[in-house]
Amino acid sequence: MTATVTPTTGDPIPVLKAFAALRRITGTYPEGHPVVAQKVRELYDLVQQHMADRDAVQIEMIRGDVHADGLSFAGDVHASQLMADLSTLGVQSIHISRGVEAAELHAIAQFLWDLKDGPAASPFGQQLSDRGVSHVTLGRLVPLDTRWRTEQWPDSPQGRIDPDYAETLMLAQQTFETVQAGGRLEPGSIQNLVHLLIHKVAQSNVALGQILALKQYENLTYCHSVNVATLSLLLGRRLGFDEEMSAALVEAALLHDIGKTRVPLDVVKKPGALDTRERRMIEAHTTFGAEILIQIDGLRPMTPVVALEHHRTVKGGGYPDLGEGAVPHVMSQIVSVADIYEALTGARSYQDPMKPDRACLVLARLAGEKLNTALVKTFVNVVTFFPIGSLVRTSRDETGVVIRTNPNDPLHPILALVGDNLDPTGEVDTSRRDESGKYQRHVIETLKPQADGLDLSRYFPELTPGPLAGIGAMGSASA
Ligand SMILES: [Fe+2]
Repeated sequence: MTATVTPTTGDPIPVLKAFAALRRITGTYPEGHPVVAQKVRELYDLVQQHMADRDAVQIEMIRGDVHADGLSFAGDVHASQLMADLSTLGVQSIHISRGVEAAELHAIAQFLWDLKDGPAASPFGQQLSDRGVSHVTLGRLVPLDTRWRTEQWPDSPQGRIDPDYAETLMLAQQTFETVQAGGRLEPGSIQNLVHLLIHKVAQSNVALGQILALKQYENLTYCHSVNVATLSLLLGRRLGFDEEMSAALVEAALLHDIGKTRVPLDVVKKPGALDTRERRMIEAHTTFGAEILIQIDGLRPMTPVVALEHHRTVKGGGYPDLGEGAVPHVMSQIVSVADIYEALTGARSYQDPMKPDRACLVLARLAGEKLNTALVKTFVNVVTFFPIGSLVRTSRDETGVVIRTNPNDPLHPILALVGDNLDPTGEVDTSRRDESGKYQRHVIETLKPQADGLDLSRYFPELTPGPLAGIGAMGSASA
């Protein structure tokens, strides 16, 4: 995902530059020199400005872009060099939380300077706390796009996976592995996948819930692709797509990233800043994808187009370069929305993945600039802030799993309450009101999904509900 925007506030690049300047000056001037104090003050003031409307400044360097709050910011050559330097030192993220003091920022600059002598002997966290830093963390990122099993999340979800979702994942994995090994993509097996996804996975609340839960642990391209296809389908259905258009959308979404099988694994794997050559290679997954797909007889005509265009913006930017102002097809625009949402809410670093409500807000910030505003609005309405499968807390301090959404009241879903020993203890409809017309309870926050080995399938009355249960619940709210 590369979502480059030019927002008026929250641009992290000046903070990054101020850090670099302070680091250099700390290493060059003797301790106590007034120019050091001045640079510390400048950085501190800049950080405070960022804190004006948020509790933390989170800067991440991913694939040569500087990200803050999941958004990517366009930097200049100078910023690229800074990122490459920090990445070499093993630093790909800087998180600063409210309450940070100027002395801590100075200590970080000093620490970064000291790293030039070689890799850190003990973990960053330990060394920083030894230096009295408690409001700043430095870290490495786990790559966003991976073709292998991530091992950072050993406590994978408990319980059985919806059999149709499991089968879809397996077929998608085979497809990607076949292409990666130089084999031919079989249109027949793609059609099986499309059918399974439309008629089984997207109809099952358990499967839809597991898409949310499982991807916190699995971060594979094929898994991402299945999830993007499902989310695209939910959006397409809401837009009134008929059977054939839905099938075309699902096929295109499933294969949108197939070109990554042609990008060298070490470049795909590299979490930090990329040099220009590597960046071009990653960006080429769009044209590689189109090339692979256009040669396969039996695929639908939109499939290579979406692979080519899914990183283009509605303003005619993005990559690959298709000529001045070329705006992507609406199918590509749908896949872009689902792709970015899926990437934000999936496992992407040592941090917890972004919660759905927060990811919806990030999409809203990209609307009009990168993404189609009408599609973003519809998408947020479909997935809602509390999608099926979310573990949430209510204003009555109850914990529950979202098992259905209320079409006319997306912020007040129906929950299966979770008891003390994780047993389901009954359902509540959070849209219910008391005699005076007030809500009896609200959902106040999303908790970490799958906490403490929660087996999602226990909370749904049956494994595969009737036709359109999943879509109906998620997809028929008033738009
Ligand atoms: Fe992509």
